[in-house]
Amino acid sequence: MIRYRILLTVILAFAAAQMVGRAESKANPAQHTFSIGTNDFLLDGQRFEIRCGEIHAARVPREYWRHRLQMAKAMGLNTVCAYLFWNQIEPQPGKFDWSGQADVAEFCRIAQEEKLWVILRPGPYSCAEWEMGGLPWWLLKTDDIKLRTRDPRFLDPAKQYLKEVGRVLGPLQITHGGPILMVQVENEYGFYGKDLDYMGDLRQALVDAGFDVPLFACNPPYVLKNGFRPDLFPVVNFGSDPGGSFKALRQVLPQGPLMCGEFYPGWFDTWGAPHHTGNTPRYLGDLEDMLKHDESFSIYMAHGGTTFGLWAGADRPFKPDTSSYDYDAPISEAGWPTGKFFQTRELFSKYLLPGENLPEPPPKNPVISVSPVEVTECAPVFANLPKAVTSSSPLTMEQYNQAHGCLLYRTTVPAGGPALLEAAAVHDFGFVFLDGKEAGLMDRRNNSYKIKLPARTHPTTLDILVEAMGRVNFGEGVLDHKGIHAPVRLDGKELNGWKVFDLPLDETELSGLHFQKAKDDAGPAFWRATMNIQKPGDTFLDLRTWGKGVVWINGHCLGRFWNIGPSQTAYVPGPWLNAGKNEVVIFDLLGPEKPVVAGLEQPILNELHLEKDFARTHRPLVTLQLSSAKPVLTASFAPGAEMQDVHFGAPAKGRYFCIESLSAHDGQPYAAIAELDLLDASGKSLSHEGWTVAYVDSEERDREDGSAENAIDGQTASFWHTEWGNDQPDYPHRLVLDLGKSQTIAGFRYVPRPGGDDVGGRIKDYRIYVGDALVQR
Ligand code: GLA
Repeated sequence: MIRYRILLTVILAFAAAQMVGRAESKANPAQHTFSIGTNDFLLDGQRFEIRCGEIHAARVPREYWRHRLQMAKAMGLNTVCAYLFWNQIEPQPGKFDWSGQADVAEFCRIAQEEKLWVILRPGPYSCAEWEMGGLPWWLLKTDDIKLRTRDPRFLDPAKQYLKEVGRVLGPLQITHGGPILMVQVENEYGFYGKDLDYMGDLRQALVDAGFDVPLFACNPPYVLKNGFRPDLFPVVNFGSDPGGSFKALRQVLPQGPLMCGEFYPGWFDTWGAPHHTGNTPRYLGDLEDMLKHDESFSIYMAHGGTTFGLWAGADRPFKPDTSSYDYDAPISEAGWPTGKFFQTRELFSKYLLPGENLPEPPPKNPVISVSPVEVTECAPVFANLPKAVTSSSPLTMEQYNQAHGCLLYRTTVPAGGPALLEAAAVHDFGFVFLDGKEAGLMDRRNNSYKIKLPARTHPTTLDILVEAMGRVNFGEGVLDHKGIHAPVRLDGKELNGWKVFDLPLDETELSGLHFQKAKDDAGPAFWRATMNIQKPGDTFLDLRTWGKGVVWINGHCLGRFWNIGPSQTAYVPGPWLNAGKNEVVIFDLLGPEKPVVAGLEQPILNELHLEKDFARTHRPLVTLQLSSAKPVLTASFAPGAEMQDVHFGAPAKGRYFCIESLSAHDGQPYAAIAELDLLDASGKSLSHEGWTVAYVDSEERDREDGSAENAIDGQTASFWHTEWGNDQPDYPHRLVLDLGKSQTIAGFRYVPRPGGDDVGGRIKDYRIYVGDALVQR
């Protein structure tokens, strides 16, 4: 009897191990070896040039993973690079979910079947225009947590997460018969900190998790030294000037193969700014330059795809990212080969390694159009409220244990005359109603949290419907608590006694809605329609007549929409459609101009309608007051693209920082700045928290996204550029930063517009002003 019981236990244990095998890939003997040699990467001991491209499994419909990987192979890539997003894999503390779009192990297996190697970027922080840079919202439940540091309240869960990544993806390393060549630690940490031990702890956590392939770290050229550790192979990220960037890399990597960790063919889009398209001739030229010099690279993005759901993040200071992540990549959002795809393929075909060949691209997936459908049903938010929770003063979304979506904050305001309603802050938009009637809007983009309420004859219900867009994915801004930041005051008196309704915009909420016949004045509402489709195929939902919100089809959340653009369509993967009835649900905070929806055969990615922006100007109008101000510095910048640190004779104090450019090195009327950092007396960068652009005399917002916020978004690939399209205003050019509060400034760091000496906008002479009264509101 005992013998049978032991036998049974062994059988059961083995069966259980098999189960895990299915989630956790079974380790196989290594067939190949990969290492970092003195001069080259070595695959099976042979020189190996990494021609890599970035594709995010989360941003590609799972049904199309193989198609996109075949496209990547046909373009000439031999490796794909993939971020993991911690917040997608661990949506609740300790609850790991590798299903559906998060099944990265399956993505890697398909890559291997398609003869592609994999470079893994598990984070814990990833950036990537993804909600909170991939960090889980629930970390914010600890008010004073120090993200991306050795704060144990951050590091312990991060280590747990990496351990889980090791359990699931460790067996897919080349050392265990899989396709994974290298694993990245953190992401561009040099931008954020200099704590070597933090990077060391993460490195060790990956080793402890079972990763035995080379571990590396990526940074842009001018912060490579920050956080640099010799036991982490460094790669450099850049969008142009390979020569200069690799020269910077050689300063930390005197010997060894040179690799560009992110080479940008395009760029991402944010709502309300023009669609980005890359400079293709320069992209091809720089790629060939790297091929000629046997340098390795990873194209970011080779295929951008779509940020489905509510996962799109926000660029700093607060520029919400579009759900389309087409990125003007060689492989378009719907997986189509673009001109750039064929040019890249042709270029790579000239630099193939011995034994390599280029397969034909797979056929394009079927594309359909769907005739316009009238949307006849709606479920107004105010008629579909869940059970409320009460709190004396408003708390943030995380404190109500809610991850994403909207929150309705309700209280009663007394009868009385016109009054000023003000919140400390609202992340991100507060739609204000009095007894259900629109009364105004609070807008984080320009820190406008004040509303004049009209007179009230009786105690009135005040509702603030807060829409949270993505959490900022870069810099200190990732500490992005959503919802209302208390206090809320009425004529200075704090309002208490709130009822709060959670509207997480998830399946549960959708399934509980009561739809009724549509009516014009529905206010913020969910709308529903049925699309009958004979033969499903990819299509692009036309949302041009809708306002602002989120759209689903057959329960799949396609992402956000906003009528200001630049994108006006939502990509619908064919496999998510049924032959027959398809349910479309549209959550619209503003309400449609015309409640119709159709499917188009082409995406609309570049149609701006700034006239539809509820913030008429994306910055409150102010008057510049320089005449009575005394400059703290008058000087000239050196020519070229190098970053320049400038120190004042004596520190200056003030809430506003103004750079007045007086001339350009090329004598043209344009000014441009890629990055501005302000320095304290010890030369340390001041935190950007609360910074906004108070005033700018000119910015190109039509032909390209030259908006002034680009000078403080932390990304050197984006830059402020004065108008050059419809107008070319001449010098002087003024840019005024509002630091939110008075600060002591001892200098600043100026990062010129990237690129060769032929690019315009390189400022020569300038003056600096610091003070509390440089602008008048
Ligand atoms: C950085 C980050 C990436 C991404 C790009 C911009 O370099 O590392 O994750 O955010 O910028 O697309």
